[in-house]
Amino acid sequence: MRLAGQKALVTGSEGGIGRAIVARLRQDGAEVLGTDMSEASDLPGDLTDPSFCDALPGLAEERLGGLDILVNNAGVIPRGRITETSDADYRLAMTVNVEAPFRLCRAAIPIMEAAGGGAIVNTSSCWGVHPGPDHPLYIMSKAAVASLTQCLGRDHARQGIRVNAVCPNEVNTPMIRTGFEIRGLDPDKGIESLNDSVPLGRIAEPEDIADVVAFLVSDDARYMCGALLEVNGGKPVG
Ligand SMILES: NC(=O)c1ccc[n+]([C@@H]2O[C@H](COP(=O)([O-])OP(=O)(O)OC[C@H]3O[C@@H](n4cnc5c(N)ncnc54)[C@H](O)[C@@H]3O)[C@@H](O)[C@H]2O)c1
Repeated sequence: MRLAGQKALVTGSEGGIGRAIVARLRQDGAEVLGTDMSEASDLPGDLTDPSFCDALPGLAEERLGGLDILVNNAGVIPRGRITETSDADYRLAMTVNVEAPFRLCRAAIPIMEAAGGGAIVNTSSCWGVHPGPDHPLYIMSKAAVASLTQCLGRDHARQGIRVNAVCPNEVNTPMIRTGFEIRGLDPDKGIESLNDSVPLGRIAEPEDIADVVAFLVSDDARYMCGALLEVNGGKPVG
């Protein structure tokens, strides 16, 4: 129960990794509010709405009686080379993947500072640190998240706020499975072929990422600020 008494807000809480993060933080004793587009989440809403993002940390603080942990997990993946992408793809990638975490961090930091500290985990990607092929919008948005994390990790350590990022490689979630479906391939077969490309023998399950997020927000990571933690089963970006 290393997070007993901690109050947490998790975005993208109805997605593959988001559900696992909420479950893991609760298992560790935290009180967690999840937010997602789906009405099934605790605080439903659309992260492309700036006023929703600005208000979310305050809403969570009000509902939970504090806010010690923020996990910016929600994300979208526009696919294709630059010539295959639209203005709408650009706006979506930058709004959901970059602007929303920017707004949420900006609103959460003063709340955490007033309480004497806190922990934020942003979700970048191995691809945000080492660019892979054919996804320039996704990769630049995840590189921006990595950079934001390094900046905030440094700027807010003196306030007792630790900001770090988790950088997964491929994870078995709807995000990756839809990539196979779009190409007319069977997602299970696609995952099997990806498994062969990973030195540990399989791509990540959502719980592999959630466990690292739980570590980063816990006191076990008390000396970590601005880190970009790659969780990749030994697979480099090819
Ligand atoms: N799956 C992977 O292989 C992989 C690899 C590296 C990084 N990531 C990152 O991990 C995070 C979680 O991804 P996942 O694989 O669980 O994907 P997912 O598609 O299963 O979940 C993403 C969640 O974000 C939510 N979301 C998207 N747009 C939103 C919006 N405008 N407002 C509110 N919620 C919104 C979705 O509703 C969904 O529940 C993302 O940031 C993703 O980029 C995933």
